[in-house]
Amino acid sequence: MEPILEIVKVGDEVLREKCAPVKEIDSSLKMLTEAMFDELLEADGVGLAAPQIGIPQRFFVVDIRDGKRYVFINPEIVETSMEKGPYEEGCLSIPGVYHDVIRPLRVKIQARDANGKLFNLDADGMLARVIQHEYDHLDGKLFIDHLSEEERNKMLKAYEKKQKRGNKKK
Ligand code: NI
Repeated sequence: MEPILEIVKVGDEVLREKCAPVKEIDSSLKMLTEAMFDELLEADGVGLAAPQIGIPQRFFVVDIRDGKRYVFINPEIVETSMEKGPYEEGCLSIPGVYHDVIRPLRVKIQARDANGKLFNLDADGMLARVIQHEYDHLDGKLFIDHLSEEERNKMLKAYEKKQKRGNKKK
C-alpha cells in the first residue's frame, strides 16, 4: 500500500534543510515516489521534492504531463545555460501565490532513477524550469528566495492572508 503523504508548508524547518544524499534506492523508496506522483496529480502540481513531504533527503519527482514521469535521486545539475528568462512559478508548499522567477533556460542534470540507474538528461522549457525549482528544495531554497526581500515579504503576506481566509471557511 502506498503511504499517505502530507505536503509541508512554508514556515516548517524541514523546507530549509540542506538535504542528505539518499543512501539506498530500494523498493520502499520506489513506492514513495509513486505516492508522490499520485499526490502531484491530486494537488495539480508538476514537481514535488522529498523535503516537501517531510523527508530531508535528496530526491524529487517531476510530472509536467508530457507522458513521462521523472524521478531524480541524488541529482546533480552539471550545466546551466547562459541564457536566462522569466517564468511564473508557484509551489505546493506556498499554495495560492505565484511570481515570475528568472532562471537559466536549459540544464543538464545527472541523477539516479527509481531503479538506481544513473542517467543524464538535457532539459529545456517547462522541464528545465521544474527541475531547477525542485533541485532548489534539496538545498532548503524556495522560489521566493529568488525574489527581492520586498517581493518575498509581499508574497508571504499574501500567502498568510489566503491561509487565514481558508481557515475561516472550515
Ligand atoms: Ni516548490
